[in-house]
Amino acid sequence: MINRIGVVGLGYVGLPLACAFASKFFKVIGLDTDSEKIELIKKGETPIHEEGLQELLKKVLEEGSLKVTSSYREMIEESDACFVCVGTPSNPDGSVDLRYIKEAVEIIGETLRWVDKYFLLIIRSTIPPGTTSNLIKNILEERSGKKLGQYGLCFNPEFLREGRALHDIFNPDRIIIGAIDEKSRELLLDIYKRFHGESMPPVLITSPINAELIKYASNVFLATKISFINMISQLCQRLPNADVKVVADGIGMDKRIGREFLDAGLGWGGSCFPKDVKAFLKFGEEMGLRLKLVESIIEINESQIENAVKLAKELVGGLNGKRISILGLAFKPGTDDVRESRAIRLIEELLKYDVEIRVHDPKALEKAKKILGDGVTYCKTIEECLTSSDLCILATEWPEYKELNQELLRKYMRNPALLDCRRLYDPEGFKEIKFAAIGLGLREMKSMRV
Ligand code: UGA
Repeated sequence: MINRIGVVGLGYVGLPLACAFASKFFKVIGLDTDSEKIELIKKGETPIHEEGLQELLKKVLEEGSLKVTSSYREMIEESDACFVCVGTPSNPDGSVDLRYIKEAVEIIGETLRWVDKYFLLIIRSTIPPGTTSNLIKNILEERSGKKLGQYGLCFNPEFLREGRALHDIFNPDRIIIGAIDEKSRELLLDIYKRFHGESMPPVLITSPINAELIKYASNVFLATKISFINMISQLCQRLPNADVKVVADGIGMDKRIGREFLDAGLGWGGSCFPKDVKAFLKFGEEMGLRLKLVESIIEINESQIENAVKLAKELVGGLNGKRISILGLAFKPGTDDVRESRAIRLIEELLKYDVEIRVHDPKALEKAKKILGDGVTYCKTIEECLTSSDLCILATEWPEYKELNQELLRKYMRNPALLDCRRLYDPEGFKEIKFAAIGLGLREMKSMRV
């Protein structure tokens, strides 16, 4: 039975995981090589914005069930299993850069050489099919001098959504365990049984390669759903009075399809979908298979930016000389993460015109600044962002933007016009100003213009 758990990599996946295990009677030691991050966490401060995390971190630190370190030796001495949650970014050609995971496994292997105990390694970073049983197993055996049985190895994918990470850790739809042998499987299963207790979710036990494929295929499927509805949204825009939102509701009522991930918008962004979809395409290529469906969903995703720019131009009669207010910069609401944010992509596209851009986001201003630099004006309030503007574009559907109404737009904007790129608003409420939205039928949009 394993009670002491290590977590390597305290990012969006690792830190919530470490805090969650520490809150459920496990002794957890979290490791990150970034010593600044470690100092911050020691003080009870989270380097990321994640719902409920700040409070939970403080609690588990005070209770002494979570400890953090930069020393692998300390982590291995004080744990019997560790979850590896380091990043697996993209190489320029779209394939996965396995540098960080290799580095982590190498050091774990070298450290294990001098430690006389069974140790279970659980890989949680997203990696191409075959990596656990080949690359990771080989590195571990070579560096530690140990054979399977003296150590254990599993691939155990995460399905956390940013902003909902803790919720998803405590209430997962399923647990996938890709174990290399029976002992590894039983030990990891036992960890989860004690973590979830009465509310144990369904478990699928399989090989590491299937588990690795399940992770990629899940993300690619979800991205496919979004690109599918975005394709329908482009069609709706060419049809009188059609509305993609109603179409999504209608097809989503079929239980086999489901309504989730059918919200049309600027497309899928973030640290996972773009990276995983490209890596999957590359992986197919390496296997001698052209994944045409995957190529198409990437193409549709890109075309949603052009689609939004086209709508913006039509709405205000050309962009040059205009002042544009962008509401929302995070890749989705509930996070300060701007990695591969579609809002940022849209701004980059708009900046190709002679425009002045003002931006607002409840949480992501600081992180966006690192990408956009001085090219745009950063505003602390929605009102400031709207001031003297000719076009307001809703790019990320934060709940605080829901309150926006035509009176407010009229009050602050020079020429009130709203482009809803996330379908947050009821067009009925904006009849007196220029209004357009992704996936809203052409004639209806035109007839709404004043
Ligand atoms: C995604 C998956 O949802 C998680 O299950 C997975 O564990 C995670 O990636 C990962 O691989 O680590 P996340 O990137 O946090 O989670 O964000 P999502 O909520 O899935 O949203 C991704 C993107 O799709 C966002 O840009 C969002 O705006 C967009 N989206 C989502 C839509 O455009 N329409 C939708 O209907 C849903």
